[in-house]
Amino acid sequence: MHCTAPPEPLFLLFQAILIGFCTPTQLSIYIYIGFLIPLFHTQFPIDTTNTPTYMASTITISNLSNICLLLLLLLHFNFGKSQLEVNYYSRSCPKAEEIIKEQVTQLYNKHGNTAVSWVRNLFHDCMVKSCDASLLLETVRDGSVMSEQASERSFGMRNFKYVSTIKAAVEKECPLTVSCADIVALSARDAIALLGGPSIEMKTGRKDSKGSYAREVEELIPNHNDSISLVLSRFQAIGIDVEATVALLGAHSVGRVHCKNLVQRLYPTVDSTLDPAHAEYLKRRCPTPNPDPKAVLYSRNDLKTPMIIDNNYYKNILEHKGLLTVDEELANDPRTAPYVQNMANDNDYFHQHFSRAILLLSQTNPLTGDQGEIRKDCRYLNAN
Ligand code: HEM
Ligand SMILES: *[C@@H]1O[C@H](CO)[C@@H](O)[C@H](O)[C@H]1NC(C)=O
Repeated sequence: MHCTAPPEPLFLLFQAILIGFCTPTQLSIYIYIGFLIPLFHTQFPIDTTNTPTYMASTITISNLSNICLLLLLLLHFNFGKSQLEVNYYSRSCPKAEEIIKEQVTQLYNKHGNTAVSWVRNLFHDCMVKSCDASLLLETVRDGSVMSEQASERSFGMRNFKYVSTIKAAVEKECPLTVSCADIVALSARDAIALLGGPSIEMKTGRKDSKGSYAREVEELIPNHNDSISLVLSRFQAIGIDVEATVALLGAHSVGRVHCKNLVQRLYPTVDSTLDPAHAEYLKRRCPTPNPDPKAVLYSRNDLKTPMIIDNNYYKNILEHKGLLTVDEELANDPRTAPYVQNMANDNDYFHQHFSRAILLLSQTNPLTGDQGEIRKDCRYLNAN
């Protein structure tokens, strides 16, 4: 976990001076609280800003003379780590968010499915360690980088070349300033709004990874035929609760699934949980059990509103028209079914939880401060 940034020299200096002034009791309290702090960071990786004030005020009320303890704690929070912020680029590149939105909109107007790709990119990038643009790295011949995109889990992912279009526009305005990781996050945010989803205020300040994690992809991103239990545990592992997981899967209200990822529910026998009429439709879309991997054979996720992030997904899965195993199980598992019902009943409720869940996903364990780098070309590590 990249919970705490490496201590800065200034921090260490102040801390050393302060420690000299503290009584042994005060020091042991500081050390004790120091053990608790990482727990806060792991559970709420983003909102640590609220913690120091809360803790500090409790301490001030209980014992005003503990000034040195108070100072130590404040130092710990203010110097010990950097984090994501709203409008992180307001000084270094004030137009960054505007430029990204403009590019995402232009691309959407030309190729609507780019927006769908940005949503899936966020998932595939953030699930693997952190939202750090590791997904965008291409394989390098000398073997130093193996692309996550080559994994079977990335099957069907597309439009990566247009990430370069967005990055180029941002680089033109502010060279080497805006990370590819923030482009992944903000392009997903803007895409969601274009696809009729909620408008989300997103923090920035992510840094890019210095490598890809191709070997971890299959462990971290669930497969098309994985169970809801496995999916819940994967999300829980990165601090995403059951209701947020249900909301995130609402992304399957847009886009498509290739026959390759469907046929095991159709052949040799039709999965009995699948609506029979829908199964017939899917067999027409995917007429053979072994689809030619080169042929682009697929079904859309949501036949009624295929390009809108709405609660039609939940209505579909309640009618057993979900395409993936996880879609079907989501509607029937006792842990998730009540949320599915609520989201099917109320689109605003779905959007509210979708926003919350996208924020949780996008703030997973970010690289910040002097961790990572800001890539010049999202496809390659900076030369050094
Ligand atoms: C956790 C369980 C999930 C599984 C097992 C899963 C699996 C899949 C699979 C197999 C496809 C079809 C790929 C293809 O054949 O082309 C797909 C498509 C898609 N997924 Fe998921 N996914 C999951 C969660 C998510 C989440 C959390 C998001 C985003 C928040 C997401 C966004 C998308 C999008 C937008 C598409 C359509 C892509 C396109 O049409 O280009 N998925 N997913
Ligand atoms: C899921 O599908 C893959 C092929 O895509 C197969 O290798 C694997 O055994 C399947 N797993 C389960 C749990 O059915």
